[in-house]
Order: sequence, then C-alpha cells, then structure tokens
Amino acid sequence: MSDHPEFMDRMLSLGLARVSEAAALASAKLIGRGNEKAADQAAVDAMRNQLNKLDINGVVVIGEGERDEAPMLYIGEEVGTGTGPAVDIALDPLEGTTLTAKDMPNALAVIAMGPRGGMLHAPDVYMEKLAIGPGYRTGVVTLDMSPADRVSALAAAKGCSIEDITVCVLERPRHEAMIEEIRTTGAAIRLITDGDVAGVMHCAEPDTGIDMYMGSGGAPEGVLAAAALKCMGGQMFGKLLFRNDDEKARAKKAGITNLNRVYTRDDLVTGDVIFAATGVTDGSILSGIKREVGYLTADTILMRSKTGSVRRMTYRNPTS
Ligand code: FBP
Repeated sequence: MSDHPEFMDRMLSLGLARVSEAAALASAKLIGRGNEKAADQAAVDAMRNQLNKLDINGVVVIGEGERDEAPMLYIGEEVGTGTGPAVDIALDPLEGTTLTAKDMPNALAVIAMGPRGGMLHAPDVYMEKLAIGPGYRTGVVTLDMSPADRVSALAAAKGCSIEDITVCVLERPRHEAMIEEIRTTGAAIRLITDGDVAGVMHCAEPDTGIDMYMGSGGAPEGVLAAAALKCMGGQMFGKLLFRNDDEKARAKKAGITNLNRVYTRDDLVTGDVIFAATGVTDGSILSGIKREVGYLTADTILMRSKTGSVRRMTYRNPTS
C-alpha cells in the first residue's frame, strides 16, 4: 500500500495536459529566434497561468529556482486555486531553452504532479544519471559499473551484440572520457546537445532506437525523468554531484541528509505521479508545435504511474 494519501489523478490528469500544452504553445513563437530567455519566460508565464486554474492545493517542489532567484514558479510557490487536493508539482516549462532558441530537436514543456512528499526535492545541482527501458531484471546495470561494463551487461540481457546497443549521452567536455570508453566497446552513441529528460524517456520508447542513457545533467531534470519512467516503465539511478560547499548546503536545505545516496527511480519519485509533456520542437517522442495559417497544433503525452496508462493527444488551437 502507498504511504501517500489518496491521489485523485484521473480527474487531474487532463487538466495537467492543458498546462504543458499552454507552455509549449506560448514558447512556439520564440522557436528559432535565438532568444533563450524570452522563450523560457513565455513558457513560464503560460504554465503558471494555466496551473493556477486547476483545482489543486499545489506546491512547486521542482521549479524555476529558489525564491530569491525566480520570480515565478519558484520552489515553494503555492499554485492552483487552493480548493482541491494537496499535491506536489515538478515542472520545467521549457526543457531545452537553447534547443528552442536554435530550433533543434526535442525541446519539451514538462510537468509532473503527485501527492505531497512523493517526489525528491532535488536541489539545483548536477546528478549522475543512468537509465534503461522496461523488461530487464532489476539492477542489470548500475551506477557502480563502468560505462563499458554497463554496455556489455545490457547487450547480454537484451540478447544482442554490443554493436546493436545505442547509448544516449549529453555532449559535454565532462563526458569525453565516458564517450571514449563507450566507443571502445563498439556500441553506438546518440549525442544530444541538451534535453536529458527526453534523453531518458527515449530508453522506454523502442522506436527511438536508444537502449540506455548515461551521464550527468541537472538534478531537477532527473526527478522529472524519473517521473516519466515511473509511468512508462524502465529503471533509473541518480546520484547528486556537488562541486562545492554551497551546493552541499543547498541539498541540506532541501532536506537531504545523505549526500552520497544512490537513488533509484522509485526513490526519486516515491508516490503515484501524473506526467505530461508537450513537444515544442520536433523530436523522437513528440512532434513540435506546428504553425499553420489560422491555427497551431500541439502534441502531448499524458501518463499515469498508477495504471501505466499513456495518452497521446493532438490539440488544435486557433490563432487570433
Ligand atoms: P535548460 O532547458 O534549462 O537550458 O536545460 C537543458 C539541459 O540540457 C537539461 O536537459 C540538462 O539536464 C542540463 O541542461 C545540463 O546542464 P549543462 O548544460 O550545465 O550540462
């Protein structure tokens, strides 16, 4: 039985899809305009506006930053009409600001909602991440293993040769050694320039051709990715990485006592969760916002962990 209070997710989920749609539609005007900040601001404003229409007593636990650095959707901000169930919210109104500014693939508007206390209050630090899709025994790959060992263990579990494994990695100087090591195995690497929520989700969608995600990225994005995988199936591991004492202090302020803990997917998201993402730019999981004369079209995925249900929705919105 869940430790968390009854979560009326059936009723709330459709409302949540409208929230990610609103954010994606708002940032669409800024696709390919070279202005990350404006694109992000448009998504934040629209997401907040739509979120505040939901009958929830919501608190942002993963948001745009600490209260003193983010005027809107900051961590701890109360959202919703205040009349509905008590819920925690993790959001990223525009996951892939640079992808949007440059009109590159896989920018998303993302939101997850669950009962109070059901998601890790991750500080804005890096997280070492490892994810695979569903259907494998627990722990077939772990963070303790070297990148090369993870690749061979996954190939053995999948029953294929290593050459048939594709690993998704964020292209960053800090990942050069890991990329080199994966290359020595013969596995393929899909390098992405940003957007590791989508990167992790790819593992659970066979059509993307990606088997495993590994590398470090934002910890808040790690919680959002875990929420998605909790609905889609698949394993994920995350460990917070600290570059200095200030980052450790941020974790302690967020209530984290064991700074060396390796979190599983279900440690990152302990309760039931609803997850919605709308494509901003075209990607492997979602189409981006399409602009045609007189209307915009948005593509949304809406999922509930309790049932494993996945809805795909196309929304057409007349433009004025
Ligand atoms: P933004 O949308 O805030 O630009 O984040 C994009 C992103 O690529 C995330 O998906 C990822 O977790 C993080 O940035 C990686 O951080 P860094 O760019 O510092 O390596």
